Amino acid sequence: MNFNFTEEQLAVRDAARDFAHKELLPGVIERDDKQHFPAEQIRQLGELGFMGMMVDPKYGGSGMDTVSYVLAMEELSKIDASTSVCVSVNNSLVCWGIEKYGTEEQKEKYLKPLASGEKIGAFCLSEPEAGSDATSQRTTAEDKGDHYLINGTKNWITNGNSASIYIVIAQTDPEKKHKGINAIIVERDTDGFVVGKKEDKLGIRGSDTHSLMFQDVKVPKENRIGDDGFGFTFAMTVLNGGRIGIAAQALGIASGAMEFALKYSQERKAFGKEIFNHQAIQFKLADMATQVEAARLLCLKAAQKKDAGEDFSQESAMAKLYASEVAMKQTVEAVQIHGGYGYVKEFHVERLMRDAKITQIYEGTSEIQRIVISRGLLK
Ligand code: CAA
Repeated sequence: MNFNFTEEQLAVRDAARDFAHKELLPGVIERDDKQHFPAEQIRQLGELGFMGMMVDPKYGGSGMDTVSYVLAMEELSKIDASTSVCVSVNNSLVCWGIEKYGTEEQKEKYLKPLASGEKIGAFCLSEPEAGSDATSQRTTAEDKGDHYLINGTKNWITNGNSASIYIVIAQTDPEKKHKGINAIIVERDTDGFVVGKKEDKLGIRGSDTHSLMFQDVKVPKENRIGDDGFGFTFAMTVLNGGRIGIAAQALGIASGAMEFALKYSQERKAFGKEIFNHQAIQFKLADMATQVEAARLLCLKAAQKKDAGEDFSQESAMAKLYASEVAMKQTVEAVQIHGGYGYVKEFHVERLMRDAKITQIYEGTSEIQRIVISRGLLK
């Protein structure tokens, strides 16, 4: 593993850090409180090249590597995980999926506006009765010759209302089980497509999470990604990549909480000295720093394997499992270090603690990551 970042990777990290402090920090508490989607910030991130970071420049992307993506995701997530989840879904689940498996026409029509940030994408796999058990898709994509007719409901869809390009996973041939599933690109203004209720969430409250309804939604066959029946493998492969993004998000939430706690511990006095000088606080910060560093190394290892073109499914699951557990544990500790101030909004750590929880749930729960890791052990 190479621990030395290139100048380009460091420049990406610094640009993301700068953006997070100048553009995300000022309104982050209000956006969280009012559940406001960061539309203007996402537009700016698109202009700066963060919405299609790994996409080939010929399709409007920035042509960066996955290591740069991890560095950027960590910096954005230190301040605003609601914004970073939109960045992650667009980059890893939507852009990467279309670039890796889409046709040239799909790349021209859909990848270009997604990679430049002109349009936002969403990935629609979860259903009311198919979360972890992703093969149990109830949404159907009936084969009608030259088109599919999609019917069903999707739940908890990130960018549900802000997106205009949706990758929808649906069952075409139930007898074939997971081999009868397809991934189909649906445009927002297609008849019969309805954006349903917005979820009122514990954390990442600025991100817009919606249910989506499909009622006889007619989509041309050329919008299918890959061969007939490839949809489940598509979803699983894309999620392997997505898990690096969410692992880096969890890493950022943990390292952000650590930075806030470290700063606070040097300012706040108790029993006649800054609380950093109490061993009880030093031990907490030492554990935080160690676990954050371990999470970072796992994220970078998964990213480096992906960049090298190797199988990274096990590493991305390990990174997501570990980083999300560190995020949850250490944001609670950051609140504890802040005492009563940690329990109110203006010190940021209570938000990071609420945001941390979702990283143990979406793009596969911690239990799903353990399934992926343990199956990898048998390979
Ligand atoms: N990578 C590539 N292929 C994989 C894979 C992986 N990680 N996991 C499974 N597959 C393939 C298998 O190789 C198999 O293919 P073949 O039949 O061709 O050999 C096929 O998928 C079926 O595999 P399994 O028999 O192992 O399937 P399973 O039903 O036992 O379940 C699972 C596998 C890992 C539990 C899977 O269902 C899973 O990952 N579930 C979690 C789904 C998930 O992450 N949802 C998140 C929603 S998206 C989201 O959260 C986005 C957001 O908003 C932020």
